[in-house]
Amino acid sequence: MTQYTTPRTVNVTEFMQRTLVYLKPYRIMAAANMLLAMLTISFYFMYPQITQYIIDAVIAKRQESMIIPAAVALTGAFLLHAVSNALRIAVNTRFGQKVILDMRRDVYDHLLSLPTGFFDRHASGDLMTRIIDDVASVQRILTDGVERALTTFMSILAVLVILLFKSYSLTALALLPLAVLTAGALWYTFSAHPGYRSQRREIGKLNALIMDSLQGIRQIKAYGREEFESIRFSGQAERLRQSTIKVMDIWAVYTPSMTFAGSLGTVLVLWAGTPMVMHGQLSLGELVGFLFYLGLFYEPVGRIDGLNQMVQSARASSERLFTILDLDTERKESTGNTPFPEKVLGDVRYESVSFGYKEGVPVLKNISLHAAPGEKIALAGSTGAGKTSMVNLLLAFYRPVSGKIFIDSRDISSVPIHSLRKQISLVSQEPFLFNGTIRDNLLYGQLEASLEKMLAAADAANCSAFIEALPEGYETLVGERGVMLSSGEKQRISIARALLKDAPVIILDEATASVDNATEQLIQEALDRLMKNRTSFVIAHRLNTISNADRILVLHHGEIVEEGTHTELLNKQGRYTRFWMIRNEQERVATQVWPNETMDKEAF
Ligand code: UTP
Ligand code: MG
Repeated sequence: MTQYTTPRTVNVTEFMQRTLVYLKPYRIMAAANMLLAMLTISFYFMYPQITQYIIDAVIAKRQESMIIPAAVALTGAFLLHAVSNALRIAVNTRFGQKVILDMRRDVYDHLLSLPTGFFDRHASGDLMTRIIDDVASVQRILTDGVERALTTFMSILAVLVILLFKSYSLTALALLPLAVLTAGALWYTFSAHPGYRSQRREIGKLNALIMDSLQGIRQIKAYGREEFESIRFSGQAERLRQSTIKVMDIWAVYTPSMTFAGSLGTVLVLWAGTPMVMHGQLSLGELVGFLFYLGLFYEPVGRIDGLNQMVQSARASSERLFTILDLDTERKESTGNTPFPEKVLGDVRYESVSFGYKEGVPVLKNISLHAAPGEKIALAGSTGAGKTSMVNLLLAFYRPVSGKIFIDSRDISSVPIHSLRKQISLVSQEPFLFNGTIRDNLLYGQLEASLEKMLAAADAANCSAFIEALPEGYETLVGERGVMLSSGEKQRISIARALLKDAPVIILDEATASVDNATEQLIQEALDRLMKNRTSFVIAHRLNTISNADRILVLHHGEIVEEGTHTELLNKQGRYTRFWMIRNEQERVATQVWPNETMDKEAF
């Protein structure tokens, strides 16, 4: 079950400090963007001035011939406005996309380096939402937002100067509604932020739900749970709808009231300006020009509302991003910097290791063992005994609560994590293939391996025959998680992948899914080749893998209760003997029901 980590509150200062660094590498682009934005606005500023000129100098003075140059000047101003705006958009997009790429990469890299336990607690869909949507929301404020903020304030300032230049008294009147606007902006800041935060959370949850159900699409169909899933989806989509409506309701009250307050400025100017024109204190053109400029004043003032909306949404998103970025990576967990030498023997030792996923729920208790280089150790025991957990510790997916693990006498917690994992090949319980070709998957552990090496590994893992029989051979696409292959095929590919990695220690979490005897034989051969001359930990379910091991450890409720060779343990007549008898019976029944390898497979 995944949980939702409540993001901590990020104040505006922290938000600015941590996000503005992303603009630093692109200072020139940012400056060009700003310059173009200013040009765009200033070309637009010519419009009221030319209009005023037409009214006062052309219409009032009846100079009809002047209309052509005035129209040409106006067209020129509009054209320049359009050109610089086009350039501004182009620069802004490139700049914004660079910032978004950097941020996404940082969040993704950080995510990849988080300890495995983090992923047990977080839904993939929610994490995806953070990388895609939340990053975009923060980027928007950084590129569009900063541009908008600067140009808005610059143009407000410029228009203000023009207005003051035209008439002090009218300007003073026109600015009266600003007090209301400031109060409104503060109210919005405080009321919208929590709304955006819960909206982001609901989006994350919805994505998590979609991802979960798409991955389980076969189960949904097999259990006929389409309607159930549809209801579950609608429930979450409904919660998202409600939270969106909440923020939009606040927005709905906010913007129109601000526009209304701004319009009162125009009313005040008309109210005071009309008598001024009548008494000859102001020309008609001047009043019209003033009103136009006033429009240009309140238009950017109105834009501040949009800006504020962007900030509140980005702050909520940044909280979700910083929550992840502030978590310690796995690398921080290892104390040393010295990697393993080139040649590692594979001597593995557990010393009084205890572990639990949750505090107070021990899963492994005081485990001690020593595996000499090349030794093959089988881990047996009932389900939930702690077998997978034991090998998870060797890979440092999790760290022991107490005790230590050594490889070649070096405490693994003092080895850089990459160097540690280089020494271990994992063939997991549920083989996982990536959505790509068979070749991509084989080379996953050693991208630079030669073609000969790859083919040899495929051969040794008994998969070359089935791969070559496919029309596209090694270039066959395996689909998401390898769905286009059978589980026996996936297993053998994952064995070949481990063979190619060529690590001194092997962890093999044997699949519990049964395959037919012929395939089992092929897998067994592949595994024997994989484990040869390597220290191997085999979580074994098949009897012949267990009995072939050099030593068997029997785990029960997180403790090693029996240890020895197959014969020694059978003579003990203890837990292992019982386990052996039960498995024997299961395998006997299985071979009665299913054909064994001596039968003609074609008959089926
Ligand atoms: P294991 O996963 O180590 O058991 O879980 P196992 O021996 O390999 O079992 P099989 O044979 O694959 O079925 C040991 C205990 O740890 C808990 C499990 O519920 C189990 O009780 N556990 C496992 C967690 O609490 N969290 C996990 O992420 C994994
Ligand atoms: Mg297991």
